[in-house]
Amino acid sequence: MDYFRVILGFMTTIFPSELISYLRASTRVAVLTGAGVSQESGLRTFRDAQVGIWAQYKPEDLATPQAFERNPRLVWDFYTTRREGAGQTEPNAGHLALVELERRFAQFSLITQNIDGLHQRAGSRTLIELHGNLRRIRCSQGCGILAEWVELPESVPTCPKCGAPLRPDVIWFGEQLPPAELEAAIKAVNTCQAFFSIGTSGLVQPAASLAFAARSRGAVLVEINYDPTPLTEHADYAFHGKSGEILPDLVKALEE
Ligand code: OAD
Ligand code: ZN
Repeated sequence: MDYFRVILGFMTTIFPSELISYLRASTRVAVLTGAGVSQESGLRTFRDAQVGIWAQYKPEDLATPQAFERNPRLVWDFYTTRREGAGQTEPNAGHLALVELERRFAQFSLITQNIDGLHQRAGSRTLIELHGNLRRIRCSQGCGILAEWVELPESVPTCPKCGAPLRPDVIWFGEQLPPAELEAAIKAVNTCQAFFSIGTSGLVQPAASLAFAARSRGAVLVEINYDPTPLTEHADYAFHGKSGEILPDLVKALEE
């Protein structure tokens, strides 16, 4: 494994020439992103010890089906705040670089755990949203997606078909990933020549296992993350720094 600590802001990331040659010759690339790619847009990650969302709140109070049953209003308020927060931010240089990378490769799959919609707003097209999207709501009893987000009225809105409370269209702890998205992600993993894990701690399954699956099928595994993660020692190349700096450097290096 080649390990690179990128000195932030002071220099251009240096990529090994064999990685650049390999990527130039590749046509099928898959990318998994996590909260770290939105950090430079001003959104909080989950597991940062000081400012992470899960340092302030307990996931079991806000991000489980049981929490929603107990107190749907609290859960709605939490996601309303997050939706508003995401709406006030803009895609950063990392999101935009991923749009450039998509143009470069014939088959490019961007698999994201993020629900903030920033990849879409940046212009990424082949997007697989594993954990849903903050901007949609659906019936909590399975009648399907009903609408883009509605402003929360006095009480939690209910499904016009069955009367059950409506919920954000996001995946909570203990829930299955959406089958079509999972299938698309597995297909990308099975066919890619290079797999990038970017801005994710790699601690939440099954998303985290995608990188290992890609590696075991022969893909070159590249990590771009601020901190080392459990994936780092398994990566062929690991670049530790900000995705909003390293990804634009990668786009440039591929163009040169
Ligand atoms: P985490 O908060 O667990 O990890 C974010 C990672 O991004 C950390 O390893 C940071 O070091 C890194 N990071 C921070 N700033 C960065 C930057 N500017 N550039 C690059 N890397 C940076 O977030 P996720 O891995 O996305 O799930 O968390 C996975 C899932 O856990 C989320 O989708 C969410 C959460 O609970 C659900 O809500 C179901
Ligand atoms: Zn319903």
